[in-house]
Amino acid sequence: MVAEVSLASLHTDEVRRDPYPFYARLHELGPVCKVAPDDRYSYVVHGYEASAAVLRDSATFKVMDETLLGAKPSWEGNRAHAVFMDSVFFTNAPRHTRMRKMFNQAFTPRRVNALDPAVERLTAGLLDRLAEQAGGGAKVDFMSEFAFPLPADVLGELLGVPAADRAWYRPRALALGAILELGGATPDNVAAANTAAEEITPYFADLAARRREEPRDDLVSALVQALESDGGQLSEEELVANLIVVFNAGFVTTTHLLGNGLTLLLERPEALARLRADLSLTPQYVEEILRYEVPTHFSVRWAAQDTEVAGVPIPAGCWVLVLLAAANRDPAQFAHPDVFDPDRTETSTLSFGGGAHYCLGAALARLEGQRGLAMLLDRFGDIRLAEAPGTPRQLMLRGHDQLWLTLA
Ligand code: HEM
Repeated sequence: MVAEVSLASLHTDEVRRDPYPFYARLHELGPVCKVAPDDRYSYVVHGYEASAAVLRDSATFKVMDETLLGAKPSWEGNRAHAVFMDSVFFTNAPRHTRMRKMFNQAFTPRRVNALDPAVERLTAGLLDRLAEQAGGGAKVDFMSEFAFPLPADVLGELLGVPAADRAWYRPRALALGAILELGGATPDNVAAANTAAEEITPYFADLAARRREEPRDDLVSALVQALESDGGQLSEEELVANLIVVFNAGFVTTTHLLGNGLTLLLERPEALARLRADLSLTPQYVEEILRYEVPTHFSVRWAAQDTEVAGVPIPAGCWVLVLLAAANRDPAQFAHPDVFDPDRTETSTLSFGGGAHYCLGAALARLEGQRGLAMLLDRFGDIRLAEAPGTPRQLMLRGHDQLWLTLA
């Protein structure tokens, strides 16, 4: 018999502050639960194997796309929704396959590897500025001075968004991201996201037009070329929508990887000291940070046909909440899942999703996380919290708004 649970507590302040005890209770009930009828989701999937199976089977479990909108009327008729629905995030095969192919052609491992010197240069520049600001023991906000600008600058290099425009972009990207939160599509948030989408769309359309005229060695030029050589497989709207979501998906996530990672380390002086003594351990630390405190707690799927997950029948037409962050703490997959242990041997996580929608930027996020944290620790031998870090409440893009530090 499958257990039935209420997801109402996922909206309470207590669970938002620390969702992990709730996830642990779900694991006690099995890898998949039925959700009480008052919710928009019919099933919650939180076991590691069960979640991976749902993500892998994109023929059965689809992401929301425009054909499914009837079931989610709150999204209809707004600009932000139009942007998302024209992008890889909210399309299914064959449209998704077509778009993803275009991205895979342009967003190659070569292009990501080639960004390494830029990541190093940009990190060094931000560290210089941090050092100046922290002079004389002044406290600095790590989020606004490092964790936000690093990924925004790296993506700026990748896409060709000029440095002067990146600060303009930040509040708009946050407004767009806010409606992806569980219960985040409130009228105010949707209105702000629409305004942001209306402002960002012409910005990227203009950038694409300029790269078409004068190509450079950046992702926008590569996409424009891939688009033209592929006989118009991608429409102009799709190109612009995808540029917007890649830029958005690419920095707020990585911002929180850096902020959550540093907080975890500062709260664990022994783990931090060990990393400082041997920075070659950074990759395994970053993997454990991603498992332990991933910024993206969930993903949503829709069952296109009657199916079964971990022996639980799921009828066609049900919405399924896949709790990636819970899967990362599944005791059946990870020994002592609530312990932060960079030496663990079970390292395969669902932090970047899986299957057809597997994160396009996983390699880049890892590169930035590793370079960013290692260079920070190398530069400052003494990093302290100047104020207790606030408690994040988000489940999507979970992280700190501010993180005040002293650095020496
Ligand atoms: C720590 C950083 C990051 C995390 C935790 C993360 C997480 C994820 C997850 C969980 C998904 C799958 C969503 C789903 O299946 O519904 C995803 C997809 C995606 N991510 Fe990331 N991401 C990160 C960084 C990035 C970066 C740096 C970029 C861009 C350069 C990026 C671009 C994308 C895109 C375009 C998709 C959609 C792929 C598709 O639907 O085909 N992400 N990400």
